[in-house]
Amino acid sequence: MNRIAPHITLACAALTMCGCGDRTTPAISPPLVAPATAASYGVCEPGEGGSGKTYMGREIAEVMGHTGLDWLERSEREQEERTDLLIGMLPIRASDAIADIGAGSGYFTMRLAPLVPEGVVYATDIQPEMLTVLEQRARDEGKWNVMPMLGKIDDCGLAPDSVDLALLVDAYHEFSHPFEMMQSLHAAMKPNGIVVLVEYRLEDPSVQIKLRHKMSEDQAKAEMAAAGFHWKKTLSELPQQHVMLFGK
Ligand SMILES: C[S@@+](CC[C@H](N)C(=O)[O-])C[C@H]1O[C@@H](n2cnc3c(N)ncnc32)[C@H](O)[C@@H]1O
Repeated sequence: MNRIAPHITLACAALTMCGCGDRTTPAISPPLVAPATAASYGVCEPGEGGSGKTYMGREIAEVMGHTGLDWLERSEREQEERTDLLIGMLPIRASDAIADIGAGSGYFTMRLAPLVPEGVVYATDIQPEMLTVLEQRARDEGKWNVMPMLGKIDDCGLAPDSVDLALLVDAYHEFSHPFEMMQSLHAAMKPNGIVVLVEYRLEDPSVQIKLRHKMSEDQAKAEMAAAGFHWKKTLSELPQQHVMLFGK
C-alpha cells in the first residue's frame, strides 16, 4: 500500500480549493504533504486484526476486547517484552502526573504507581470492564494514587496542562480516532511533558504479532507530527517494540 498517497491527494485538493493557482496569490512553496486532519481517514478491505478504517495510509487495528485481559497479564510478559527495562527507561520524577492511556487491566499502571509517591497515575481506557478490574486491583494493592478514568474514543478526557508523562503501550494503533485522541492528549500535556509511544516493530519480521498491531517508526513519527508532537528520540533496547519519545 502506498502510505503517502492520501496526503498527496489532500494537498492537491487543498491547493485547488484555496485558489493557489490564482496569479494574484503571492508565490509560496506548496507543502510536501498536507497536514493530517480527520479527513485523512479512509476505508479499506479489513485485513487480519484490522478495523477496515485507515489513517494516513495505515489500517487501524481492532480494539483488543476485555476478554484478552489474561494475555496482558501473562506471567511470561516481563521476559518476552522486557517490561522491566521499559519502566526503567522512563524519565519519571516522584511528583509526576503520569497518564497510562489505554491502560487495559493496569499492567503498567500498577508498576508506575509506586514510582510517583507524590504524584498520580491517571489510568484511562474506553472499556469499563478493563477499568473495573484495574480499580479493584488498585484498591487491593493500596495504590491510592491511581485514578481510573473512562475515556472516549476521540478524547482522552484529561485536563489541559495536567500531564508530565503519557505512556501508550500497545494501544495507539487501536485508536479508532487517533488524530482527535492525540490532539486532546496534546492539550493535556504540560509544556515540557513527554509522550512515550510503545509499539511492536513493523520493520522486524521476527516480531510475531499481527500486522495491524505493529507500527513502523516512520509512520508513528508522521502521525504524531500531525497532532503537533515532535520526535525526541527512539530507544531500541526492547526485544520487540519501539520506544518513541515525543515532546509537545
Ligand atoms: C492491547 S491493550 C494494551 C493495554 C495496556 N497498555 C498494556 O500494555 O497492558 C489496548 C487497550 O487500549 C484501549 N483503547 C483502545 N482505544 C482507546 C482509546 N481511544 N482511548 C483509551 N483506550 C483505548 C483498549 O480498550 C485496550 O484496553
